[in-house]
Amino acid sequence: MPFIKCQQVVKAYKVADHEIVALRGIDFEMEQGEMVAIIGPSGAGKSSLMNLLGGLDTPTAGKLLVGEQNLLELKGRRLAEYRLRQVGFIWQMVSQNLLAHRSALANVTLPMMLAGVPVWRRRRQARALLERVGLQAHLHKRPGQLSGGQQQRVAVAVALANTPQLLLADEPTGALDRTNARQVMDLLNDLRRTLHLTVLLVTHDLEVAAHADRILTLRDGALAQDMSGREAQGPRLDDAGRIQLPPGVQTRLAEADRIAVEIRPEGVLLRPEVAEADHTDALLQDMLPQDVPPEKRRWFGRGRRKKP
Ligand SMILES: Nc1ncnc2c1ncn2[C@@H]1O[C@H](COP(=O)(O)OP(=O)(O)OP(=O)(O)O)[C@@H](O)[C@H]1O
Ligand SMILES: [Mg+2]
Repeated sequence: MPFIKCQQVVKAYKVADHEIVALRGIDFEMEQGEMVAIIGPSGAGKSSLMNLLGGLDTPTAGKLLVGEQNLLELKGRRLAEYRLRQVGFIWQMVSQNLLAHRSALANVTLPMMLAGVPVWRRRRQARALLERVGLQAHLHKRPGQLSGGQQQRVAVAVALANTPQLLLADEPTGALDRTNARQVMDLLNDLRRTLHLTVLLVTHDLEVAAHADRILTLRDGALAQDMSGREAQGPRLDDAGRIQLPPGVQTRLAEADRIAVEIRPEGVLLRPEVAEADHTDALLQDMLPQDVPPEKRRWFGRGRRKKP
């Protein structure tokens, strides 16, 4: 059983009188203990996906399972419990993660206080966590008295305060220099191994993404897997202009009836195409207004309803 399962997840935001579709049917699974990085251009839907998995927002359509729970069925108190205990968040904006007027220690004890952990135990656990992220000498400093990298390490401790199983990190190193970014990523990797955490992170930085077991690209609300990183030998272009594709990619393409080649601004796309009917469907789909989620694309009758 995968730990995370997204099935045909659609997220549309209503803005004034129209809808913006941020996610167009995401299918995606993650095993427990896995670290996956999502990369993609601005506006691709990365934060939208993180917010859904963190229970901060609900999908317009689709199915979202984390552990045993169907996130669409969580409401009220159970949803609040999920956010408090089962998932930890780290945001890109360093200032968004911490309360400026509280010390590092008091920031880490706060989620424990909300979860009803007794005062003596939360102080002991917070100290241990801050020690774990290498900040034992800075327990009583407020965020403004710490460097950006140190603040992000406090943020990691805050996110892990109630020992969640899932850590969602939206550009955790976006505001850090290379050395600090590397330190935060080493820390996440270490915690993941020792605590068997499942980590999903969003980044613009390929060096940061390389720490993950898998890299997925999100573009225009659709996910794709970067196959080159999975194979021991990536694709190579030889002197005659031939590309040897990795075996996993060859298998996918071999299953198709036809391979479509598109030259796009971001590169060359090889797309497996199946039966003719599906192809026509896909073309029709492309012609439909894309700012409306599939289940909302319906016809309205022209005639007025007669008053009874
Ligand atoms: N609350 C909202 N209301 C309306 N539209 C939104 C809302 N949140 C996001 N969007 C839109 O949804 C799309 C995806 O946004 P999202 O924040 O998920 O992108 P992103 O990949 O995280 O981008 P970035 O790399 O800039 O953080 C964008 O077109 C954005 O304008
Ligand atoms: Mg974002």
